[in-house]
Amino acid sequence: MVNGRKKALILINAYLQSESQFSQAERMKEELLALGVDTEIKRNDGFFAMIDKDKLRSNIANEYDFCVYFDKDKYTSEMLEKAGLRLFNCHEAIRVCDDKMQTYIALSGKNIPMPKTVSGLLCYHADEPIRKETVDRVEGLFAYPIVVKECFGSQGKGVYLARNRKELLALMEKLKCKPHLFQEAVQTSFGKDVRVILVGGKVVACMLRQSQTDFRSNIELGGEGSAYEPPFQMQLICEQIAKELDLDYCGIDVLFGRGGTPIVCEVNSNAFFAGIERVSGVNVAKAYAEHIYKKVYGE
Ligand SMILES: Nc1ncnc2c1ncn2[C@@H]1O[C@H](COP(=O)(O)OP(=O)(O)OP(=O)(O)O)[C@@H](O)[C@H]1O
Ligand SMILES: [Mg+2]
Repeated sequence: MVNGRKKALILINAYLQSESQFSQAERMKEELLALGVDTEIKRNDGFFAMIDKDKLRSNIANEYDFCVYFDKDKYTSEMLEKAGLRLFNCHEAIRVCDDKMQTYIALSGKNIPMPKTVSGLLCYHADEPIRKETVDRVEGLFAYPIVVKECFGSQGKGVYLARNRKELLALMEKLKCKPHLFQEAVQTSFGKDVRVILVGGKVVACMLRQSQTDFRSNIELGGEGSAYEPPFQMQLICEQIAKELDLDYCGIDVLFGRGGTPIVCEVNSNAFFAGIERVSGVNVAKAYAEHIYKKVYGE
């Protein structure tokens, strides 16, 4: 409580202009206000935390009971949390989920099915040539088509398919100085996957995404969403992931392996929920607001 009032902050990205981002924040504000929490939405452009001489200081950390962090700026999230502001999701969960390779590493060794994946080599200088052996080695690890991804990306934009050596080489050249990965293509799931939304470690909504024109089923790339009841095994895997990564809220993308077995594609700590609210009829913002309220105020 701040001056006897329940107060919350919603931080959104400093630059992003997307309508989805604004409506997501407005929906959360609406539901938190309904619970009696004074809520402000701010762009994460105020340099709200910094290292000053030998100390980390923040001019907002004590102004709010908690912050719904709808951004991926992991320097500010770590500094705000260290300065004492409680974040949803917590900094570490945001940091791990923002990096696809980091997510696979964090989930490895826990019986969570994931596609075979290897991280791309680190290249410091763009003028360094890609050696023939390197391409041979990737071809030795995966059969074509090969999925190639930027570790940092969303909405399917940083996800590519190499159908032959020429395309692989072109992608390796394009991405060599960026964090990237090579991944087994789950062809049984081309053009369809499932987005599972979890709040407080529990599945609250789910949608099947299908594309007639692309192996990627992202709605932003023209995929269609429809209501979907996830099989029990898929639910269990998603709930385990939310627990392992300490996620209060997340959207998990699940692929269909042979026989429909679930294969985890990625975990989004800031998944947009407008589409899934429409398709599933579930009030995701309300579920998330109530979860946070219970955790912070214990009521
Ligand atoms: N290994 C794979 N095999 C088959 N299809 C895949 C594979 N990886 C990704 N896809 C398809 O590409 C889409 C985008 O990939 P992914 O979810 O990894 O990236 P993204 O851009 O981060 O997406 P988001 O917007 O959900 O954050 C997936 O929803 C899925 O349809
Ligand atoms: Mg995805």
